Amino acid sequence: MPYVEYMKNLIRNVEKSRRKRVQDAKEGKHHARLPQEDVDSFLKQYHPDYMDGTKRPVNFGPNRGEAVQNEVAEILEARSMVDPDTFDTGTVHYETDIFIVGGGGAAASAALTAANRGMSVLMATKLRIGDANTMMAEGGIQGASKPQDSPARHYLDTMGGGHFTNDPELLKALTSDAPKALIWLEKEGVMFDKENDGVMKVLHGGGTSRKRMHSAGDMTGAAIMRVLRDEVKNRRDSIQVIEFSPVVELTTGGDGEVTGGIMYNMETGRFLLVKAKAVIIATGGFGRLHIQGFPTTNHYGATADGIVIAYRAGVPFRYMDSSQIHPTGIAYPEQNVGLLITEKVRGSGAQLLNIEGEQFVYPLEPRDVESSAIIRECGDRGKGVTTPTGRFGVWLDSPMIEILKGEGFVKTNFPAKYRQFIRHGIDISKEPMLVYPTLHYQNGGLTINSSGETPVRGLFAAGEVTGGVHGRNRLMGNSLLDIVVFGIRSGNSTAEYAGKTSFGTLTLDHLRRYHRELADAGIKTDRISPILLPDYMGKIG
Ligand code: FUM
Repeated sequence: MPYVEYMKNLIRNVEKSRRKRVQDAKEGKHHARLPQEDVDSFLKQYHPDYMDGTKRPVNFGPNRGEAVQNEVAEILEARSMVDPDTFDTGTVHYETDIFIVGGGGAAASAALTAANRGMSVLMATKLRIGDANTMMAEGGIQGASKPQDSPARHYLDTMGGGHFTNDPELLKALTSDAPKALIWLEKEGVMFDKENDGVMKVLHGGGTSRKRMHSAGDMTGAAIMRVLRDEVKNRRDSIQVIEFSPVVELTTGGDGEVTGGIMYNMETGRFLLVKAKAVIIATGGFGRLHIQGFPTTNHYGATADGIVIAYRAGVPFRYMDSSQIHPTGIAYPEQNVGLLITEKVRGSGAQLLNIEGEQFVYPLEPRDVESSAIIRECGDRGKGVTTPTGRFGVWLDSPMIEILKGEGFVKTNFPAKYRQFIRHGIDISKEPMLVYPTLHYQNGGLTINSSGETPVRGLFAAGEVTGGVHGRNRLMGNSLLDIVVFGIRSGNSTAEYAGKTSFGTLTLDHLRRYHRELADAGIKTDRISPILLPDYMGKIG
């Protein structure tokens, strides 16, 4: 639905302040940044991660006593779909060197890498291959590809963005592999945006000191995922993909090592047992748990399955209490609520404005700071715009990009966003967008080392399901990078591991133990997890 009359009137405030703001931007003047020394207290006051009553400790398993978001606690305080006492672990349906759980960018990068090293690979995906957050990613992928930049600068920016909570070993791997990850993607066939002379276009993202965001319009993730998906499909000789078959449990051998997993065919309701030398978890994040009721940018299957099955097998997690709330989710029209508006819009010059048409924050603060500033503006300061359904939002002045960069820039550079809004009668090259923070990313996740190994032998993990590389706040463009770098690394590590390992026994001893631990912690529940798909019956506003 187009903006209603009162919203159109409010847009006049944006238009009134635009000329001066554009002039300032041209002269390099910008809104003051939040002083570094104030960041912690600001986040504690306004960021959803710090709200009272939103977390509780898990009282069993490797992270016993550690607080996680209530929604995460719920899926951990649950029983398996599989009954370890009656399940037939003697009938194996598939045997493979490497078993990959997931169907997104990390899974595909790992599969291609392991297959190139002569491994047989089985990929199990909950929905179709490519139904993943990778496909939804818009803005870009970071990598120090220019002479004025370096992996060291990329490292420092990311460490600063993560407020120095990032795991140094993982971050070093991420940033030093970045230039070759970009080359790998290009060779696989990803078409990145280029300047007229053919060199890669780069932009700033929030928290970056150099331009290192490489993109494919505002559909970078789709450009990457389509290429990887097609390449996986081309490799039928060594990669088998089984769709609509999430993995609901792992199997373990005599020493607790991971030896395979159990797929659940969503069409037939059958369980299928897979025997493998090594398993990679690449199931993505938890957006569809709608932490604290936030809408999300995530794909429909993002329900943290990998966290549940790996935790049951004994893998500890890190920073599972930390969620990334992206500053600019769509707040209007109602049909699009929660969907992402890429940070690249701000990277191209658009500013955030309150109901009076005033700037209230530097547009490219790290995401947690930026989101908190919007929450404060709409909350404590009472300067948000209310939508007809009672949501809050602030304006993102996309039309000013047309003045800064030339007519037609918005439509050319943000074709997906342009279409998403014009369908509802809003032309974002002429009218600003109304935005509010949206749940975007799982900052924390499974513990891995720089080879993608978890502390449980035979089990590896890559991508959003892991924790540590981004610390408590990921910078834009580092997740597409993460899936490629750690997808490739885990593909290589599993190939090495599988090369010197033979198949183990398949038991569900770890699951029996987990159910016992739940009971010992006094948790009596009928809840089953992984939950596989979100339950929207009256839950999300
Ligand atoms: O804003 C964005 O385009 C999102 C990118 C990311 O999360 O990396």
